[in-house]
Amino acid sequence: MIEGKSKMGSIAESEPEAGEQEEFSYFRVQSRWGATKHMGGFKATQSLLEMCQITPGKRVLEVGCGVGMTSWRLAKEYGCTVVGVDLSEEMIAWAEKRAIREGVSEQTEFRVANAEQLPFEYQEFDIVFCESVTAFPEDKQRAVTEYARVTKPGGYVGMNEGTWINYPPPEDLVQYLQQTMENAVFLNHDGWKNLLEEAGLEDIQTVIHEMSMLEQWRNQMSGLTAGDRRDTFKAFGSFFSLYLHNPEFRKYTRKIRPPRSTLRQFFKYLGYGIYVGRKV
Ligand SMILES: C[S@@+](CC[C@H](N)C(=O)[O-])C[C@H]1O[C@@H](n2cnc3c(N)ncnc32)[C@H](O)[C@@H]1O
Repeated sequence: MIEGKSKMGSIAESEPEAGEQEEFSYFRVQSRWGATKHMGGFKATQSLLEMCQITPGKRVLEVGCGVGMTSWRLAKEYGCTVVGVDLSEEMIAWAEKRAIREGVSEQTEFRVANAEQLPFEYQEFDIVFCESVTAFPEDKQRAVTEYARVTKPGGYVGMNEGTWINYPPPEDLVQYLQQTMENAVFLNHDGWKNLLEEAGLEDIQTVIHEMSMLEQWRNQMSGLTAGDRRDTFKAFGSFFSLYLHNPEFRKYTRKIRPPRSTLRQFFKYLGYGIYVGRKV
């Protein structure tokens, strides 16, 4: 259940009904506090959109929009009309509330939908993009083919996806990420690029970035607006409060805590890539 506050400012978190046993998972934790993320933060979003030739008035689809941190900015700062879809109803509810708070509900629309089966006609959008999403669908080729199907000829498909920058990665790191991140499967540069090629896209451009924990934190925080920053700090507050008061949550955090060796390997092996192709 999600409740919005009538006041402009932060949006209330999603909480279980009284007496309900709460189950925690990677997406549940993100939707509970209304904060989703992707590697590279808003800086990476800007390069992705520039590579997709974004200009005012374009009709854009964001697949896996999460809580809508990017969608509303596309409407407000880039003057686009934006449709955001996500598999999670809770994420979509956050995205809608955020768009209302930012005064862009007329230019945005949010729907629950699966990347592998988009509920749109052929060639509806000038740009279709996603950030840290295609790692999750089981059939990645099907998802990317869907992105291309709903893009207009001459339009762009863009993805920011976690990328193995050293390959092959250690098996324990792969296992750890799958177990703690909803079965996420990351690919290397050629793997992601190949998905765009197989979907029939051309003029493919790619940029690979290495990351560090500090840089990720900086990028994540630096692009936030005042409202989003308030929400993020509120989310940290909720995190600590929940940790103190909810034994199930403490159990969850123990389960996802990486062994030291895995933590050390994380940024050595995993970076992110921006991948853009043009529909012909
Ligand atoms: C890591 S979050 C990133 C969210 C957002 N793009 C951002 O950068 O803040 C991944 C999002 O993808 C959504 N997702 C996962 N699998 C999906 C699928 N098959 N179709 C649509 N959305 C999906 C999740 O619900 C989640 O909101």
